[in-house]
Amino acid sequence: MPQDRAPVAEGRDRPRPAVSVRFAQVRGWNAAIVDFEPGTNLYGTGEQPGRLNRGGICRDIWTTDCFGYEEHMPSLYQAHPWVLAVRKDGTAFGVIYETTHRATVDLRDGIFFAAKYTTRDTQSPGVVILEGCDAADVLRQLASKVGRMQMPPRWALQYQQCRWSYETDARVRTIAEGFRSRKIPCGVIWMDIDYMFGFRCFTFDTEKFPNPRDLNDHLHAIGFKSVWMIDPGLMTDEHYPAYRSGKHGDHFVKNRWGYDYVGKVWPGPCSFPDFTRKRTREWWASLYADYMATGIDGVWNDMNEPAIFDVPNKQMPESNLHEADENLGGRGNHLRYRNIYGMQMVRASREGIQKANPEKRPFILTRSNFLGGHRYAATWTGDNKSNWRHLRWSIPMVLNMGLSGQPFVGPDIGGFADKADATLFARWMGIGALLPFARGHSVRDSVDHEPWSFGPKCERTCRLALERRARMLPFLYTLFREAHLTGLPIARPLFFADKSDPALRSVDDAFLLGDSVLARCNVWEPGAGAATAKLPAGDSAWLAFEPLEMGSEAEKGSKVFDDDLPELFVRAGRIVPLGPVMQFDGERPVDPLTLVVALDESQSAVGELYEDSGEGYGFEKGDFALTKFTARSGPDGVVVTAKRAEGVFPTADRKTEVVVLRHGQAPTRGRFERS
Ligand code: NOJ
Repeated sequence: MPQDRAPVAEGRDRPRPAVSVRFAQVRGWNAAIVDFEPGTNLYGTGEQPGRLNRGGICRDIWTTDCFGYEEHMPSLYQAHPWVLAVRKDGTAFGVIYETTHRATVDLRDGIFFAAKYTTRDTQSPGVVILEGCDAADVLRQLASKVGRMQMPPRWALQYQQCRWSYETDARVRTIAEGFRSRKIPCGVIWMDIDYMFGFRCFTFDTEKFPNPRDLNDHLHAIGFKSVWMIDPGLMTDEHYPAYRSGKHGDHFVKNRWGYDYVGKVWPGPCSFPDFTRKRTREWWASLYADYMATGIDGVWNDMNEPAIFDVPNKQMPESNLHEADENLGGRGNHLRYRNIYGMQMVRASREGIQKANPEKRPFILTRSNFLGGHRYAATWTGDNKSNWRHLRWSIPMVLNMGLSGQPFVGPDIGGFADKADATLFARWMGIGALLPFARGHSVRDSVDHEPWSFGPKCERTCRLALERRARMLPFLYTLFREAHLTGLPIARPLFFADKSDPALRSVDDAFLLGDSVLARCNVWEPGAGAATAKLPAGDSAWLAFEPLEMGSEAEKGSKVFDDDLPELFVRAGRIVPLGPVMQFDGERPVDPLTLVVALDESQSAVGELYEDSGEGYGFEKGDFALTKFTARSGPDGVVVTAKRAEGVFPTADRKTEVVVLRHGQAPTRGRFERS
C-alpha cells in the first residue's frame, strides 16, 4: 500500500530532486523505491565484496561476522543504508534510508530499500535525497549530515604490522626488531586477543605479557606505537572485575524475558554491554583508564557485530532487548539496534580513550560500524582471503567505503584467511601501501605474513612499497586533513577526475589519492600483462612519477623500478609534497621537503601541504601550517613559491627541493622561494 511520506530533498542549492520516491509494503516489509533516469551508476552501500559499480546487487543491511567472505553472502560486518548515484552527465544524488533496523538494499532494478519491522512498529522509514552537482558535492553534504572523521594521530597513517597473534612479549619485540634491522618502514605493532588473560578484555596474560608497560615503553623507544584489541563480550566470571562491575551496574543486553543474555565468544560464556545506552557507554569508557595507563596507543574493537559462536548466523536473538537512549529511539529489540551496536561500542571506546589521554587524539579500529560511524573509528575490510580475487576487491571495497562516508579504511594486506605466496604478497603490499589504512594481518595458523616471510625478492618489493608510503606521508596527511574538513574520500575512483567520461565509471584497478595522484595497479595475476586502466582526460593529463626517485633522497641508493608496484602519476597542474624515507613517523624532521611539480599546458602548477605536531589538539587553535605552493616556468626554469595560507605552526629551517616532471624526460630540478 503506497504511503504518503514525502522524501526529504536536501542539497546545496536544494534543487528539486530529479528522482521520485515511492513507499510501499512488500511481503510484510516496508519498502522505499527510488526512481531515476536510466544510465545512472550506483555506488556506496558501505562494505560489500565485489566490483566498484554496485548496480545489480541485492544485499542485507545487517551486521554479520563473515570469515572469508564471498559475493554470495548476504551481508558483511557493516551497515550503510546509503546509495550514491551518479547520472550520465556527472551530476549525482545520494539516498539515505533512515533506519537502523534490519533492511535490504536491492539495486537490480533501480534503488529499492526495505526494512524488516516487528508488528508493533510499522511506520515506514524516511528517505533523504542529497542532490549534488557531482559525487564530491554529494559526499560533502553527506558529511554535513552524518559528521566528519576526526583528525587521527599522524602515526596512524604509517604502515602497521599485525597477526593473530604475536603470542608473547618476546615475539612482539622480535617482530619490531625485524623491521628495524631490515630497514623496512613500519610504525605500529598490533596485539590480537592472545595477550589477554583467558580472553578477558582489559586484562593481560601474566606469563605471556608479564609487563605491558615495559613492552610499550620498549616499542616507543624504537619508534613503534602499539594497538591492542578489546572485544565487546565480557566473560561471565564473577571473579573478573570488568564483568562484575558490568553486572553490578546492570549494563548488559537482556533477553526477551529481561535477564542478561549470555552468548559464547572466545572466553566462553559472555555478557554484552548495551552500548545504545549513555550510562553504559560511560561505564565502558571508564574501563579504559587503567588499561591506557600501560602506555597503549590505540585500540582495536573487534567482533562487535556482535559475533556469537555456536548459534545460527553467529548472532544473538532479534528479540533481545536494548534500553537505548531516547534520541536513538528508546527501548527496542536487537532487530532494531544490532546495526548500530558496533558504532555505539566505538563511540563509548572513543570517549574512554579520550578521557584517559585527553591530550592525545584517539585511534580506534573497528570491524563493525554504521553510516556515520567514521566519526569514531577507522575500519578495515574484515576477514578477507589470500587470493587474487580478494586482492582485486580490496580496491573497490575501499573506494565504496569512501563513497559511503568512511575515508580511513584498508584491507588486511596479504589477505587474512589462507596463505599468501611471494607474488600475491608483493603485489598486495604494493597496492595496500597506497591505501588510507595500511596494515598487514593474517589468521592464526597461517604461514608467516611479514614483509620478509616470502624471500628476498618479495622483501625488496615490500621495502620499496613501504618506503614509498613513508615518503608520501606529508601528502597523505594533507589528504586526511581535507577528509576531516570536508568528508571527501582519500582514495577516490577515477571518475572523480573526469565526470564526463562514462568509461571511467567502472574502473577499479586504479584509484586516485586526493585529486593529484593516480595509482594504476599493474597486474592482477602473474603473467596477466601490463596495467590497462585508462587515465582520466587522456595520458597528457598525467605524468608518471616514482616517489623513490624524486630529489636528493633518491641518490641515497639505487631504487630500481619494480614492476610488482603500482604505477604512480601526478596530475598535470599539481604539486605533490614528499618527505624523506623514515623508518617511522618522527624519526627525524621532514627535511628535505621535496616538491614534485607536474606542469600543465600553461606551464604552471599548484599544491598544498598541511602540517601540525601530528598529535593532540593544538591544531584546533591554529597550531598548524597550511602552505600553498605555486609553480611557474620562466626563463630561469621552474620556480615554486610557497605562501603560508593558515596557521602558526613553525616549519622554517629546512631544505625544500623542487623536482619538475615533463613527459618523456628525466625529472629536472627547479628553484624554491618563500614569498
Ligand atoms: C576476527 C578478526 O576479524 C580478526 O582480524 C582477528 O584476528 C580475530 N578475530 C582474532 O581476534
